[in-house]
Amino acid sequence: MHAAVLSEIGAPPAYRTHAEPVAANDGEMVVEVLAAALHHLTRAKATGAHYSSTGALPLVPGADAVVRDPAGRLRYAALDDTKLGTFADRTVIDVRRSVVLPDGVDPVRIAAAMNPGMSSWIALRRRVAFTPGQRVLVIGATGNAGRMAVQIAKLFGAAHVIAAGRDAKRLAALPALGADETCTFDRIDRAADVDVVLDFVWGAPAADAMIPMLTARADRSAPLTWIQIGSMAGATAPIPSVALRSSRLQIVGSGIGSVPARDIIEELPGLAAAVAEGAIDVRARAVPLAEVARAWTADTDERIVLVP
Ligand SMILES: NC(=O)c1ccc[n+]([C@@H]2O[C@H](COP(=O)([O-])OP(=O)(O)OC[C@H]3O[C@@H](n4cnc5c(N)ncnc54)[C@H](OP(=O)(O)O)[C@@H]3O)[C@@H](O)[C@H]2O)c1
Repeated sequence: MHAAVLSEIGAPPAYRTHAEPVAANDGEMVVEVLAAALHHLTRAKATGAHYSSTGALPLVPGADAVVRDPAGRLRYAALDDTKLGTFADRTVIDVRRSVVLPDGVDPVRIAAAMNPGMSSWIALRRRVAFTPGQRVLVIGATGNAGRMAVQIAKLFGAAHVIAAGRDAKRLAALPALGADETCTFDRIDRAADVDVVLDFVWGAPAADAMIPMLTARADRSAPLTWIQIGSMAGATAPIPSVALRSSRLQIVGSGIGSVPARDIIEELPGLAAAVAEGAIDVRARAVPLAEVARAWTADTDERIVLVP
């Protein structure tokens, strides 16, 4: 079979022949890969930058995929740390980390959507007691995960969703997806009275936003849960201590580890159904797996989905 093989940190993977996969453990099966997206997680795992990566080389990247199982059913599968990921004609999945997909789904849309979509879906379902009618601020709303966060917050009944980003032009597209308001980072005080923040950016923009937001709150003792999800602007953020004393701010994270794998798997069918029904707009671009080296470094807003 063919696969994308990464042999050196810093260099893109190469498309070449690879040994056939073998299912060796309980619950494993060999599956045909139909569509596998190139997420930040995938790149970070492959380059050793993600907290869950092992750094072992050579490896076939790919953290998840839409696959066809031996019985002919389509499944979405998330892989644990492995040297044989989903950027291959075939791979090995643990059936317990997969869900059967509804008939007739578009593998490319599902593959593009599940990782960025799960970030806010899981955060709102598992990291905060979110209730319809609450107000949500999305920081980093112009990215794939942020755009989906705006839509998912509305799907879950948010009364008001504020989309924040650094690029006013890109923000202008978000009201069409359900954002009630948009603002650039320098006007984040306008989002003072939200109940939940979904933060994909962290770094200086998050730290700089806190005091203006908190001091503008009508009631500083009203609970505010800031959910740290991504770190596009920096892995660390200098949070002012007064932010934690002067308001009822709680900062939590959402991702692999802070939410048990079992809980994440339980949420997958709901998101897959929402995407399949067209309730969530997805930006996806299918690229042949053979073009993986070019796709690895492509500069695009769309989520690249490799198709063997
Ligand atoms: N914890 C989880 O469960 C989970 C799951 C999925 C993703 N994530 C993380 O979420 C983050 C976003 O993922 P994505 O798929 O949406 O990525 P993406 O599609 O590449 O979008 C990146 C977003 O970050 C913004 N951004 C980039 N650099 C920035 C900077 N220096 N300052 C301010 N904003 C900046 C971009 O703004 P512009 O539009 O202006 O470029 C865009 O809104 C990543 O860190 C990813 O690893 C976490």
